[in-house]
Amino acid sequence: MPDLWQDAMDHAVSLARTAGTLVREAVQNDMKVMLKSSSVDLVTKTDQKVEKLILESVKEKFPTHSFIGEESVAAGEPCKLSDSPTWIVDPVDGTTNFVHGYPFVAVSIGFAVNKKLEFGVVYSCIEDKMYTARRGKGAFCNGQPLQVSDQKEINQSIIATEFGSDRHVEVVDKIFSSMRNILCLPVHGIRGVGSAAINMCLVASGCVEAYYEMGIHCWDIAAGVVIVEEAGGVLMDVDGGPLDLMSRRVIAANNKMIAERISEQIDACAPLRDDRHSVEK
Ligand code: IPD
Ligand code: CA
Repeated sequence: MPDLWQDAMDHAVSLARTAGTLVREAVQNDMKVMLKSSSVDLVTKTDQKVEKLILESVKEKFPTHSFIGEESVAAGEPCKLSDSPTWIVDPVDGTTNFVHGYPFVAVSIGFAVNKKLEFGVVYSCIEDKMYTARRGKGAFCNGQPLQVSDQKEINQSIIATEFGSDRHVEVVDKIFSSMRNILCLPVHGIRGVGSAAINMCLVASGCVEAYYEMGIHCWDIAAGVVIVEEAGGVLMDVDGGPLDLMSRRVIAANNKMIAERISEQIDACAPLRDDRHSVEK
């Protein structure tokens, strides 16, 4: 059977590379930082420029496809996943890193059809690592196959997570109590590079056993979902149920056992869903 979506995936890789070059160049220059939902939710001209570049190119080459992008949603576009082929894009994942020159910044492009993710491309542009995965065809970093860790013991694992950008004390308390529970299991360590997409690629690469976060958005994780699954990993909601891309919560792990051990320790919160964002902002 011909691979219907290979053309779109090839285009996504080429767009990610072009976008990554723009991001790399912009890191060297002064940038104008603007705020979104709060003083710690940052956006720059580069985020907007890269999203525009990807959006315009997708609309030209695949005019019937739908598009969900972080900056388009911020500008008021809806964030609804339909059955139509849909590009789910974070032009700059790790904007805070980007602003500070902390060297983990990614362009993340996921692609779903009938609400099922078909491929993912994450370009970690400072490291020059191109992570790719097509459903059923494996996951790769710069062309080398990826495989999750085979560790079965949580107390011999490294877990990645992030603090996110919600500074409400009730939310921060839950983030810390979850982290405290996990740290004291005990685990070997807790890490986080400041980009959800790259954290997921680290799970796929086998150097951390799992990544979890509450407060992420669909564009932060869509591409990473396919990359983790194709490297042999699993996805789960923080409550132990199936992953819901719009729920803003994720556990990505090397296996179900590790994912479940993490979900048991999480003091869950329920951020406003991505698909309610435009109506309840
Ligand atoms: C953020 C990063 C960060 C995570 C946040 C995300 P952005 O994305 O992935 O690691 O903690 O939850 O929103 O804003 O840099 O695209
Ligand atoms: Ca972003």
